[in-house]
Amino acid sequence: PIPVILDCDPGHDDAMAILLAVANPAIDLLAVSTVAGNQTVAKTALNARRMLSLAGATGVPVAAGCDRPLTGPLEIGDYVHGESGLDGPAFGEPDVPLDPRHGVELIHDTLAAADEPVTIVAIGPLTNIATLFRRHPGDRDRIREIVIMGGSTERGNHTPYAEFNIVTDPEAAAEVLESGVPTTWVGLNVSHQALVTTDVLDRIAALGTPLARVCVELLTFFGSSYHQAWGFEAPPLHDPITLAYLIDPQVMTYARVGLRIELDGAYTRGATVADLHGRMDWEPNANVGLILDRDRFWDLMIGAIERLGAP
Ligand code: BDR
Ligand code: CA
Repeated sequence: PIPVILDCDPGHDDAMAILLAVANPAIDLLAVSTVAGNQTVAKTALNARRMLSLAGATGVPVAAGCDRPLTGPLEIGDYVHGESGLDGPAFGEPDVPLDPRHGVELIHDTLAAADEPVTIVAIGPLTNIATLFRRHPGDRDRIREIVIMGGSTERGNHTPYAEFNIVTDPEAAAEVLESGVPTTWVGLNVSHQALVTTDVLDRIAALGTPLARVCVELLTFFGSSYHQAWGFEAPPLHDPITLAYLIDPQVMTYARVGLRIELDGAYTRGATVADLHGRMDWEPNANVGLILDRDRFWDLMIGAIERLGAP
């Protein structure tokens, strides 16, 4: 299996990504770090513990990392994820404890202990990963690849041209992009192909397990937020696509292109500028996802919920 550290800000779609990471045998989930984004870092850490507990992954360490972006104040995504960051279901006390280390040090220690390069899957703002590289520059050599949910080759969501994870901490995103570690980007242009339509919800509900019921409650809340904020008929399940791509690279097509993060821009700060047609004379520096194989994706995601729900 591929050794993975999951850096996240659960968040409804992060919650589903945690389930996929735990359930799929192609992934060896070494640690989970959380970051401020969809909610405060205290809430995202609690939510990660809740999901790992539901998935029965009691041995995976979870730690809270950075509580605000590298520059500027934190703007949370509560208009999508609610007051708790995971509104919808009622959760019991999690069995998975909070690791006392800072999330960035948990990543550092996990990389140091691994006997092969580790893949980082980053599905929140990139503050923890940029901070890791500032504090421990040598750690870059211990990472095989960073698979990021962030940006878009098209328009944005939090602002017209910027996606939430990138616009929350654009400097961090730029530092990670320029770190020299290979990156693969799952942007909104890909994730908006992963809509939780009624037939998807029905397939999950039909599993009939307690975990499947929690997933349906999560996705129903997420769907109403997306309807309210952007008029979507079905919400896009962004974050788990990163893991699906690691498990089965054929789940999406991608191109190697020149990529930049807009750090200024009167109206476009945090936009990802992907030179898809080679207009800019930029060296290709990133893999950028393009077309999703929806059936493969949903089979992996729903298969994970099914596997975790088995007695
Ligand atoms: C990203 O922002 C968050 O709201 C989601 O969890 C996802 O990581 C989508 O723009
Ligand atoms: Ca997220």
